[in-house]
Amino acid sequence: MKLSVLKESETGETRVALVPKSISKLKKIGIDVIIEKGAGEKAAFKDEDYIAAGGELANSFSDAIKRADIVVKINPPTSEQISELGPEKVWISQLFHRLNDSLIDALSATGVSAFSLDAMPRISRAQSMDVLSSQSNLSGYKAVISGADNLGKIFPMLMTAAGTVTPAKVLIFGVGVAGLQAIATAKRLGAVVEATDVRPECKEQTESLGAKFISVEDDGVKTEGGYAKEVTEDYLQKQKEAVNKSLANADLVITTALVQGAKAPILISREQIELMKNGSVIVDMAVAKGGNTALSKPDEIVVHKGVKIVGVSNFPAQIPTNASELLSRNIDTFLSHLVTDGSFNWDFEDEITKGTLIINNQKLSS
Ligand code: NAI
Repeated sequence: MKLSVLKESETGETRVALVPKSISKLKKIGIDVIIEKGAGEKAAFKDEDYIAAGGELANSFSDAIKRADIVVKINPPTSEQISELGPEKVWISQLFHRLNDSLIDALSATGVSAFSLDAMPRISRAQSMDVLSSQSNLSGYKAVISGADNLGKIFPMLMTAAGTVTPAKVLIFGVGVAGLQAIATAKRLGAVVEATDVRPECKEQTESLGAKFISVEDDGVKTEGGYAKEVTEDYLQKQKEAVNKSLANADLVITTALVQGAKAPILISREQIELMKNGSVIVDMAVAKGGNTALSKPDEIVVHKGVKIVGVSNFPAQIPTNASELLSRNIDTFLSHLVTDGSFNWDFEDEITKGTLIINNQKLSS
């Protein structure tokens, strides 16, 4: 069985779906790897590294797709890539299928079978295959570093002959995967950290990392599978009141709030930004989903009354080596779930296979 790894073509993307280390793991389950030339270059993996690990090179995406049974990429296929696909192929990438009807229609029309990596169920058995979690974890770290870079202050307390520098105050909205890593990173750098989340169980997790949890007393939150499903206007109002004092004192705010299947909730209004200190910084991690502040813009730094609002839509692309290594591990583990001895062994009752198989070409399932 042959698997091809395509070079990412999206603006600003620097990651690669598979790193050389995964090649020997895949060989053991009967998969030979073909890499489109230069696919790993921006993530510091050279073509020679793939060859040394037992991979082969393809000259173009078209050549790579033609020679493959399985095609792997991080981002959804381009229309040119879709036109090369057919019923005998299996496509694996993020598809964001709920937001991408026309992409799914175009892919379905080719007869391909397609798995969406971002549809991985959040269950413990699937954790090692969960690309959203692995990338959010790294991004939580990078968001703090980016915030520190944009701040005219340092994080730790420093006692010097010239006087004492007080520690930076960091406030984090959303204590999921990204938020937890942001708390841990800001603490490691010496900041005083506070965090808030709609889920009460986050209090213990926040405190175990040495940060303070800001609770909002209201029952206006619906959760599903342990994640926020819906937050009422009343809740958001109470949250504003609970956080405003911390917001006014914060040097750096990181927002990571996400409600499954919905646009990101606005947690910081224009008026609240105006409460913040001159020179303070907000890093909005949810900017690609509409943003957690009223003024965030994707891939821009907006300055409003002395407050910088940093919107970065692809933090993992700023740390492509580690991001690709973790993605590659997620993907090779997922492939081990789908393939035994060079053949597909899909179990359609299995939550992982069922949840990620967005387009099921009947020929392959029979
Ligand atoms: P997650 O689902 O693990 O965590 C989100 C958290 O937000 C949950 O704990 C949820 O309870 C909380 N939340 C929901 N509504 C809230 C509210 N009103 N107030 C406070 N907390 C609230 O998600 P994860 O993986 O940590 O990702 C967080 C965000 O970061 C997502 O929007 C994701 O798309 C984004 N992200 C952005 C990246 C970038 O490069 N900019 C990279 C990775 C993730």
